[in-house]
Parts: sequence; structure tokens; C-alpha cells
Amino acid sequence: MPRYAHIIGWGKYAPSNVVTNDDLAKKIDTTDEWIRERTGIAQRHIATEKESTATMAILAARQAIENANVRPLEIDLVIVATVSPEYPFPATACLVQSAIGAERAGAFDLEAGCSGFVYGLASAAGMIRGGMYDTILVIGAETLSRFVDWKDRATCVLFGDGAGAAILRASEEPGGVMASVLGSDGSGGELLIVPGGGAKHPAGPDTVLSRMHYVRMNGREVYRFATRVMAEASKIVVERAGWSLDQIDLFIPHQANARIIDSAAKSLKLAPERIFVNLQDYGNTSAASIPIALCEAVDAGKVAPGNHVVLVGFGAGLTWAACAIEWTAVKPGAPTLPQRVVAGRLRYLWAGLKAIGWRLLRRTDAAASKVIDAVERKTPEE
Ligand code: ACO
Repeated sequence: MPRYAHIIGWGKYAPSNVVTNDDLAKKIDTTDEWIRERTGIAQRHIATEKESTATMAILAARQAIENANVRPLEIDLVIVATVSPEYPFPATACLVQSAIGAERAGAFDLEAGCSGFVYGLASAAGMIRGGMYDTILVIGAETLSRFVDWKDRATCVLFGDGAGAAILRASEEPGGVMASVLGSDGSGGELLIVPGGGAKHPAGPDTVLSRMHYVRMNGREVYRFATRVMAEASKIVVERAGWSLDQIDLFIPHQANARIIDSAAKSLKLAPERIFVNLQDYGNTSAASIPIALCEAVDAGKVAPGNHVVLVGFGAGLTWAACAIEWTAVKPGAPTLPQRVVAGRLRYLWAGLKAIGWRLLRRTDAAASKVIDAVERKTPEE
């Protein structure tokens, strides 16, 4: 029997700290008018000190687990798409895996710029359809506010923080992620880059003084690239799914710039009501933008079972990616029962306590091994 990969749960998180264009105009040489006209962005959510890529990813994941009605132990794999991970290593996905108590799951981070979530979805669907796994959690999470140069008005006004998650599950029922397109062109890597802090230019006083640890972008070239690949990738994925363009019910593009979205929509001949746009509220949240938009679209009732949904992203790399999804999930109607809320909280509390327990056990084990080794060395040979 063929296997299909259905989206059965979705969740999102955005910091409550909202920064409007006018707020930015008080700090840098910009205006609300310029930002709205050139990008469509009105505000963005910016992480507070207590928030970071992992904390936001965990909250989005919990929401997705909740409305998919799965137990964390059923999750086989956690993929976190991000360009702003918690650390160079360990992977943010491992932090999420531990915090949600997905004890059976493998976990890895995926770095494909703003296309990351769609790359993750396509990879997860492939693994499910191929029979490797049954249940996969895919997250897009970013704290780009920690990587943008707040003195560079050409980039800092564009980005925001947040996370979105989806749970995919195997089924023999047709539907779910029906086709995907993944693309890259590394020759354009320098168009959108954080040049410092990696193996080529390790972090040090020089990289910091020359602001190499911040995002650098050639906006015009990225714009030209984006308008081309968004439409191309969408056409290919629709064809691979065996659909025609007029069968797209909802088009959910990467939320970077309203003009890029308009240009893709024009080329695909999509009417505005078939395009989901929320960048005015979030800015560009990179790998989190598409899953956040997907959640909002589903929650707003814009996606119903049987609908054809196309997700398409582009980003650093350069990369681009698209997925054609035949939507099958029913939006949970009734609010979650209080018992389930309590059970969920207890589960995550227990997962947290267990992680602390394992850490302590590892330290005790290391200390005990040292003592045993020392005693052994002092024991005369027989
Ligand atoms: N406020 C006011 N003026 C500004 C600002 C600002 N925030 N930023 C730039 N300007 C000025 C420039 O200095 C320039 O002035 P000048 O003509 O006197 O030199 C003028 O506005 C025009 O600048 P451009 O860069 O040519 O503006 P453009 O119309 O290209 O818009 C933008 C810039 C919005 C960045 C656009 O190029 C764009 O959206 N590019 C795509 C970016 C993108 O989507 N990146 C995300 C990729 S995804 C990922 O993986 C992270």
C-alpha cells in the first residue's frame, strides 16, 4: 500500500513584544511610510531576553502536539529549520526533543535559510512515504533580531522573531504532502550572509569590530532572485502534484516582502483571496514565516479538508523550496479539556525533571568512575 504524509497538527509562537515601524523610526533613519511601501511590513515581534530560538520552538511544538492529539513518545524525529540556532552545536532540535519528552525521537537542525521549513516538510514527507518513520515534528524557528545589525536600516527593518511547527503522520489515505521542489544556487551565497563566527572567520575581536557577525544582504539581487524562483518553483510543484494553477485554493508564500508576493501572484494568475499574507504583523521571520502563516490560515478557516495548498519559500543559500499539500486535517473545534491541559503541563514538567535527572546521573557517574579509576591505580598488582 502506498503511504502518504499528512499534516495532523500545527502550532505557532510569537513574542508578545511588538516593535512597530514608528518605534524603529525613533532609533534609526527610517519612516513607517518607507517600510510599508517597500515591504508591506507594519510591525514585527522581537524576542525578549528570556526568549530564544529553542524556547519559541518548544512552545510552537507543544501547540502542534496538542492539536494533533499525539503523545511526544509517538514522535520519531524532530527537525528544526533555523538560521539562528540556540548554539552552533548542539542542535536546537535536541533541546526541543528533550523539553517535549520525545524520548524515542532522533533530532537534527536543518539550515536552508528562509526555505528551511519547506525543506524540512519535504524531507519529513519523503521519510514517511518511504516507510522510515511514522510521525515527524517539523519546526521553523528564528531569533533573527540577535543577528541583524540594528544600525543597518536596510536590513534591520525587515526581520522578526517567532516559531511555527507542524506534525506529519503516515497514513494509507491519499492526501497530505503530494509533491515538493527543493532548489539551490550556492553561487549566490554572498548575497545574503552572516560572514563571521563560522569556520572561515571564527569569532574574535576583528570579526566583531567589522560587524561580520551580522546579516549582510544585497537586497536588490535577493529581490530579483526571489521574484523569479517563487513563481517557477510553484509552477513545478503544482505540475508534479498533477494539478493545474487554477486548482490552487491557497498559496502560502514566504513572508518577506509584499511586492515579491504580488509579483509571484501575478505570474501565477492568483487572485488576492487565494494568497495568504501576514507579513504586515510579523515581518520576515525566515524559516518560521511559512509555518506561522500556515497556522494563521488554518485558524482563520482559510484551509479546509480537500483544499490544495501550495507553500513556497526562498532564502539564503541561495535556496528555494515548494510543497503541494492536499489538506486533510480538520481544525479542532472544542477548546482543549482542562484535564488534557493539566496532563500536558505535567508531561512537560516531568520531561524537564527527567532531563535534569539524566544530567545529574551523568555527572555522578563521571565522578564515581574517576574515584574507581583512582582506587584501581593505587591498588598494587597481584
Ligand atoms: N528606510 C529608509 N530608507 C531606506 C531604508 C530604510 N529602512 N533602507 C534603505 N533605504 C534607502 C537606501 O539607502 C536607498 O537610498 P539611496 O537611493 O539614497 O541610496 C533607497 O532607500 C533605496 O534602497 P534599495 O535597497 O534600492 O531599496 P529597494 O527598493 O530595493 O528595497 C528591500 C529594499 C526592501 C530590502 C528590497 O530590496 C527587498 O525586499 N529585497 C529582498 C530582501 C529579502 O526578501 N530578504 C530576505 C531573504 S530570506 C532569508 O533567507 C533571510
